[in-house]
Amino acid sequence: MTTRWLRPTRPGQQPRLEYGADYNPEQWPREVWDEDVRAMRAAGVTIVSLAIFSWARLEPTEGEYDFGWLDEILDLLHAGGISVDLATATASPPPWLTTKHPEILPVDQQGRTIWPGGRQQWRPTSPIFREHALRLVRVMAERYGNHPALTAWHVSNELGCHNIYDYSDDAAAAFRSWLQSKYGTLDALNAAWGTSFWSQHYSDWAQILPPRLAATHPNPTQQLDFKRFSSEALRVYLRAERDVLHELTPGIPVTTNFMIMGEQKPMDYAAWAADVDFVSNDHYRLPGAQSLDDLSFSANLTGGVAGGRPWFLMEHSTSAVNWQPVNVPKKPGELARDSLTHVAHGADAVCFFQWRQSKAGAEKYHSAMVPHAGEDSTLFRDVVALGDTLRKLAPISGTGRTPSRAAIVFDWDSWWASEQDSHPTDRLRYKQEALDWYTAFLDLGVRADVVPSHADLAGYDMVVAPILHVVPQALRERLESYVNAGGHLVTTYFSGVVDENDHIWLGGYPGALRDLLGIRIEEFEPLLDGDSAALDNGTIGTVWTDHVEVTGAGVEVLASYKDGGAAITRRSVGTGSAAYVSTRLGPEGLVPVLGDLLQRAGIVSELPEELRGRVELAVRGDYWFVVNRTAEPVELTGLDGEVLHGSGTLLEARGVTVLRKV
Ligand code: GAL
Repeated sequence: MTTRWLRPTRPGQQPRLEYGADYNPEQWPREVWDEDVRAMRAAGVTIVSLAIFSWARLEPTEGEYDFGWLDEILDLLHAGGISVDLATATASPPPWLTTKHPEILPVDQQGRTIWPGGRQQWRPTSPIFREHALRLVRVMAERYGNHPALTAWHVSNELGCHNIYDYSDDAAAAFRSWLQSKYGTLDALNAAWGTSFWSQHYSDWAQILPPRLAATHPNPTQQLDFKRFSSEALRVYLRAERDVLHELTPGIPVTTNFMIMGEQKPMDYAAWAADVDFVSNDHYRLPGAQSLDDLSFSANLTGGVAGGRPWFLMEHSTSAVNWQPVNVPKKPGELARDSLTHVAHGADAVCFFQWRQSKAGAEKYHSAMVPHAGEDSTLFRDVVALGDTLRKLAPISGTGRTPSRAAIVFDWDSWWASEQDSHPTDRLRYKQEALDWYTAFLDLGVRADVVPSHADLAGYDMVVAPILHVVPQALRERLESYVNAGGHLVTTYFSGVVDENDHIWLGGYPGALRDLLGIRIEEFEPLLDGDSAALDNGTIGTVWTDHVEVTGAGVEVLASYKDGGAAITRRSVGTGSAAYVSTRLGPEGLVPVLGDLLQRAGIVSELPEELRGRVELAVRGDYWFVVNRTAEPVELTGLDGEVLHGSGTLLEARGVTVLRKV
């Protein structure tokens, strides 16, 4: 469970915000290491992640280890006062292993082998890979478990980043046994998968395959189960490494870096969080109008999967990355702003990929803490300044986020299911819709927590569940109780439509939520590209519309389509309510709609009016983080408190002010 934090590596070590990076000393000659430790100290680095891609260096041939270099650098770092988040080094198998056992290589949907040459070329379900990897984990734990620099274990790296969907025979066998324990009998599986359709009935478990390349749309429940299985398979692998580490080094907390960012959807981190001692996340900002909002959304959701407790930002970038079509460097101020926005949402550690920018290899154009230009650079000076800031903000460490009055529910099952093929439209984007609501909250200056669907919703006055497509009976009952107890639920198009097997809730949409919302829809009416639907509140819908029939008592139509028909409805239920938005309004259109719904729910911004939308507010106990969302300076009026960082009067463009409320 996410309840433990780093092991202190010094007697009397005070709580602090950790600062550091992935460190790859094996890419550099020995003399650079001393320079590294000296410069790390100058920058205020407290922690590095070591040995992430070092398997081939640590075990150059099968069963023969070369630990000398790792021993030396661990000692050097410890002498320099720097703690080590030590990787199990299993992220990328060495060439000798893939040469000897090509059967550990993943296979794509079309049956093509994923060859070595890049990284992470292993099947999550391969027993041979697991045997070799767990042996290395054991050897690492035995050798370094008592090293004084060791502060945490870093399992593999970004599990699933490149190998989540494997269609190999190993995957097929593991998928079958996962299905057997899920369904028990073939009859149950046949019923759940709806195999009466297209002659898909199974009479033997051996006939079941992953959804490999098919003539046309593979069975949707098979696809959905394969997504669930693939996330679970890596989670089981994570637990296997973790169990070895817990057995041999019970005092050392274990983590693995999640990727809650952008459109990274295959890993259900809401479930994975239970398997690490503390949650870590990697985040890279993508270009676009909602770039900063996505950073905030991801940090917020990471806090949500961590149950509101502090978490570890394991990677982000000091400046440009190397893996987008065009890699733009960060503007002045963005390095600190991005880092502090993560801290605002509960990060107690701020780390980068990576310490020293590589000279060779595929990531040589990826920024780092020490750029190619060296320490005499604007970037390194910014790095040093951030180290200083984090030292000053140390008292914040350990303080969880302060819950908001509103929440956005994020549900991996709905993300997966709503974007499958053979649907009314392939234009629907689950994450984008959730992000649009988040942007609308930010534009209105109202805080909202982003939480997984299993979170306790009772404490929230308003819950927005965009495209909550998969609604099993238990979730339906939870939402009904939430509203009956006075909660204000808001949901959108394509919600409530299917159960956990991706079977339609019959009788009219939105199925499981029909009675709660007091509406009924007979047919979906998605829009072609370029088409739109004007609403009488001045907003414009795209992507989707519904022909909504009001069926329940107490339903008010808040907005209608100009061409006729209800577009936004709200049903009062005692002191609670259930609202439905039947089209994609985008952040701009959602602002007035959400503003109205918030007002009806009695939720007001904590910010003075002139700051709303221009700054983001995030709260950790007594600490208020105020982040400039604009490219202009913002005058900070009406906020009081002791200024811990930035200015209390003028928030620079791309600046952050941290206040302690007194
Ligand atoms: C991450 C990965 C790092 C590095 C980084 C570059 O996905 O964990 O090793 O590749 O991306 O942005």
